[in-house]
Amino acid sequence: MCGIIGINSNKSVSATIINSLKKLEYRGYDSAGIATLSEGLINEVKTEGRVDKLEKNSLVQNMEGKIGIGHVRWATHGLPNSINAHPHSSQNVSVVHNGIIENSTLLKKFLVEKGHKFKSQTDTEVIVHLITEHLRTQNIVNSIKKTLKSLHGSFALGILFKDQPDLIVGARRGSPLAVGYGPNENYLGSDSYALKSMTNKITYLDDGEFCFIKKDHVEFFDEEGTKINKKVLELSSDEKKYDKGDYKHFMAKEIDDQPITLKNGIKEYLDNTNNDINIYNFPWKINDISSITLIGCGTAYHSCLMAKYWFEELTSLDVSVDIASEFRYRKNRFKKENLYVFVSQSGETADTYAALDLCKNNGMKTCSVVNVIESSIARKSEFVLPIHCGTEIGVASTKAFLGQMLILYILSLKLGLLRKDLKKEIFIQKLKDIKDLPNLVEKTLLTDNKIQTISSTFNKAKGSMFLGRGFSYPIALEGALKLKELSYIHAEGYPAGEMKHGPLALIEEGMPVVVLAPRDNYYKKTISNMQEVIARGAKVLLITNKSNDNVISENIWETVVVESTNEDLLPFLLTIPLQKLAYYSALKKGFDIDKPRNLAKSVTVE
Ligand code: F6R
Repeated sequence: MCGIIGINSNKSVSATIINSLKKLEYRGYDSAGIATLSEGLINEVKTEGRVDKLEKNSLVQNMEGKIGIGHVRWATHGLPNSINAHPHSSQNVSVVHNGIIENSTLLKKFLVEKGHKFKSQTDTEVIVHLITEHLRTQNIVNSIKKTLKSLHGSFALGILFKDQPDLIVGARRGSPLAVGYGPNENYLGSDSYALKSMTNKITYLDDGEFCFIKKDHVEFFDEEGTKINKKVLELSSDEKKYDKGDYKHFMAKEIDDQPITLKNGIKEYLDNTNNDINIYNFPWKINDISSITLIGCGTAYHSCLMAKYWFEELTSLDVSVDIASEFRYRKNRFKKENLYVFVSQSGETADTYAALDLCKNNGMKTCSVVNVIESSIARKSEFVLPIHCGTEIGVASTKAFLGQMLILYILSLKLGLLRKDLKKEIFIQKLKDIKDLPNLVEKTLLTDNKIQTISSTFNKAKGSMFLGRGFSYPIALEGALKLKELSYIHAEGYPAGEMKHGPLALIEEGMPVVVLAPRDNYYKKTISNMQEVIARGAKVLLITNKSNDNVISENIWETVVVESTNEDLLPFLLTIPLQKLAYYSALKKGFDIDKPRNLAKSVTVE
């Protein structure tokens, strides 16, 4: 969370910093700030709210300086107001920070005793005062080294010094940070996305490292302050993909783009010539794997849960699923024959990264399913399966969810085949079905109008429920998550069979309940559960798939019918109306769809 930008140039930087901050708003958007150095003084302007507000501030419009840092914040310590916004500055030093300093209370006590005065409620301000304190007696390298050593927790930092007109310091532990190289200027950014409009030459800092960004070169140091060499990577330039075209919101576009993004994924992984799946470089012997653990957070966790059903159906592997923030602190029984799969759109989620780190440190087999291939999670995993769905900007994940499910499904088929759990002819049939999927998603997107009308009822509701069994259960969880995060309506996802063990008490007259009942093995059971909620006054929106027989049920409020395909793939189609439902509910309420309150796209704090 939080976005950092730093530019050291031979021309004025404030406008470029503001533009880069706009790109970084997906990481946090409750407050923003900028600091530049001009004529030996640090100028700092901060505001609560969005970068737009910062940009309109006359002090920013007239801001001078050829070196500067900027920040968009997602509050951890202290309210989202202008005082707590970053940068935080003393007379000598200005700091932007992403992460959490866990021992800030202790450090603050120590610094206050030394006479330092604090202005904000943030943990970040201790960094400013620690550096200021060390600079009294030591050079910059030692001051930075000493400061970083005394910090517990996670951070990515950008630091500006009053007496150093040609220096921005960047430092990383736990939170991502990249350096970019331009003509006569160099940059610091919390990810490559922010830097892409300025350069495609990037170096990622690794944990414990810091760097000195000068106008004409960059120096890197390890945590002991020893100079090190780092690789410069070249990124592909795909700026056009960030455009939302005629759409009002990125999310709307990202939902509608799903037939294309699925096609891209299919093109990468399906080997039509050999009727096979193009995962030929799998780095482990298949017989060395007897179980699999899938780990992620939020929507990515739901795709892991979905994959559990597929792996159990298509392979004889033992499968477990974990929420990363739970996994990382539990007493895990690590097993050599287990494959650990980490799923993350951004590839930067702090808990998922920490879970991966833990597995690596215990010598486990690690594989990641990510969208951002330059991300920390991708770089740390032994084996990477990219989802190839392009940049996702909307904070609520949509096309990346379908992308993750596609790759996990493909992986389950491949492992099923390699382990001889799956017959070749069935495997080939399933590949054929996958090829039809983009077309079926396209047709299912035509439920749009109906969902728009239905969404009005959800808007008026106090709460809602999403029910499903088997393959539809993870999708019910995902549908509920989408509705709550975008429209702020309370929504619970539940296995339909669990309702009578407690949640049925929540059902009252007129409560909207979404029932996912495709024509699969669970159909009849789910329809019975649906009747139980109808009998208690629920307004049921049934989502099912096309079939020759009519729905054998009464008193259903609304029915939405998606296309038909094999049972494994129905979850992809069931997801579409749920994404649209969340979108239109939020739209009608006038909420900020691409940036829902309190959230951020990339969760780099735990
Ligand atoms: C919800 C959503 C989040 C993310 C979660 C993990 O719509 O987007 O729940 O899925 O924060 O993020 P990644 O996939 O980047 O690890």
